[in-house]
Amino acid sequence: MCGIVGFTGINRASDILINGLQSLEYRGYDSAGIALVQDDKTQVIKTTGKVEDLRNKVAATADTYGTCGIGHTRWATHGGVTEVNAHPHQTPKVTLVHNGIIENYKEIAAELAKKGYTPVSETDTEIAALLIDSLYNGDPFEAMKKADEILEGAYGFCIMFQDRPGKIYCMRNASPLVVAHTPIGSYIGSDVIALIPYSKDYFVVPEQHIVVLEKGSVSLYTMDHEKVEPKMLHVDWDTTAAKKGGYDYFMQKEIYDQPEAVKNTLAPRIHDGKVDFSADKISDDLFKDVNRVIITACGTAMHSGLVGRSIIESLIRIPVTVEIASEFRYMNPIMDEHTLVIVITQSGETADSLAALRLANERGAKTISIVNVKGSSIARESDYVLYTHAGPEIAVASTKAFTVQCCGMYLITLKLAEVMGILSDKEISEYIDKFIAATETIPAVLEMDDYIKTIAEKIKDTYSAFYIGRGLDYAFACEGSLKLKEISYVNSEAFNAGELKHGTISLVTEGVPIIAVATQDHIFSKTLANVEEVKARGAHVILITDEDAAGYEGLYDDLIKVPKTDDFFGGFGTTVAMQLLAYHTTVYRGYNVDQPRNLAKSVTVE
Ligand code: G6P
Repeated sequence: MCGIVGFTGINRASDILINGLQSLEYRGYDSAGIALVQDDKTQVIKTTGKVEDLRNKVAATADTYGTCGIGHTRWATHGGVTEVNAHPHQTPKVTLVHNGIIENYKEIAAELAKKGYTPVSETDTEIAALLIDSLYNGDPFEAMKKADEILEGAYGFCIMFQDRPGKIYCMRNASPLVVAHTPIGSYIGSDVIALIPYSKDYFVVPEQHIVVLEKGSVSLYTMDHEKVEPKMLHVDWDTTAAKKGGYDYFMQKEIYDQPEAVKNTLAPRIHDGKVDFSADKISDDLFKDVNRVIITACGTAMHSGLVGRSIIESLIRIPVTVEIASEFRYMNPIMDEHTLVIVITQSGETADSLAALRLANERGAKTISIVNVKGSSIARESDYVLYTHAGPEIAVASTKAFTVQCCGMYLITLKLAEVMGILSDKEISEYIDKFIAATETIPAVLEMDDYIKTIAEKIKDTYSAFYIGRGLDYAFACEGSLKLKEISYVNSEAFNAGELKHGTISLVTEGVPIIAVATQDHIFSKTLANVEEVKARGAHVILITDEDAAGYEGLYDDLIKVPKTDDFFGGFGTTVAMQLLAYHTTVYRGYNVDQPRNLAKSVTVE
């Protein structure tokens, strides 16, 4: 949600900033801007639209030679999409970019107004800029510390003080910032993706810390101006992982990345027919004396939580609830030291998921997170972290991250089964064989790509669609439906198959697509009975199953027959099929698959 970058060094900053913003565009794409410092002059160039529009505007601007600058790509929160509201924001003393939300900006604006400060934009960010300006008397640390005491909300700032050319001061509270340094200069960004063309070694700015970027150094400080050593991390994927690599869209590439992502996530954790978390330093004690599991997450990650609920309850027989993270905190949830709270998140920075984790920690629950981004806030603040190894996911619609999150849920479930003595070693080994076999069906579904495209062509003009399934299939159907809705703008919802007739079936008319997911042998005929109900109302039924559908020909219009797997691991093939269906439908409808309107990949505001 908003991407920020900064560079100071010996090379021209504008290219580095714009390339960095382009790689961060998944975080926001309604407007963008940069500020460049040359000698003691600061030049701000901003525009509504995409980073490419900014690139063109910069190319058409004279004298953009500064070697120090900051940049921003915006996902509007306060104030509409206008050039004035775009960042950087400038006051006489400071120029800054911001990622996050200042919650008390109205109160601060009222105080500043009394002192004669008048904003020109509608943004909370400009109020922060004016506040820092009003607090600045030549000492950046003093101004930032004072501002930090006043500001409420989430922020990452990159600030250039007018009288300190060549230096970038950054401070962080919640919104992520990562830093790298090379002989060319010092780099900062919201995500390591902006840094890897220059360095694979970086550090995450801890919360409530300040970083100073200079041409020859980066220095990390506490808010009290005490210097601290940064904890360096290393990126284990290369720049090609963050490129489209010949695919039309990142989403398409990421769908195809799945076999590799699954292998990278499972291989280090499966040894001798057992789940082995020793390299993750996840102690077996975490899984002892657990009498209840709460899974909390947002969006797609929440759907992998639904998968988790289904498999833990059916195998482990302890109660599991799945809580949407934005609600969790306000429900006064019941937790104690026997509650295992699992937070699932691709970015590790989702504000609501982080708040839910903090509450779980406060209430003494055991916490583990399933996270894709190394060193992220949620990874750092949970008792244990199980990293998924999907590599960078750039498309706003999550695909490979979901699949590996589900893998994480299966690993945890099998570990619970082992530690709680629910399965014998032999049974666990058999489960693991079936698990691996299920994930190995993904390439065969990818080979159905062209066939699924022909089905997408048939439904491309629909206004609405419904996904139905029972049990575990329902969990996967929820994700399938979200995929279609978020990128194609088809009004799509998922329902438990048996529930449709209690209201929603009134929306099923001639030709409305119903995507029926049916992989669970014991309820296959029940789901098909519900298919019969919608078929009778003229629905266009797309049946996705690994079961033998012989004898049901009259019930579906299109059949996506994925390879047969064990029912417990039944969702991998259906997921990939639904991702491809959403992808092709969107391409047919002519929308930007990777950057759906109004959405951002990393939601760092509540
Ligand atoms: C946003 C993204 C979704 C994602 C959700 C949770 O809404 O568009 O794709 O599932 O945030 O993000 P997280 O990083 O916590 O998995």
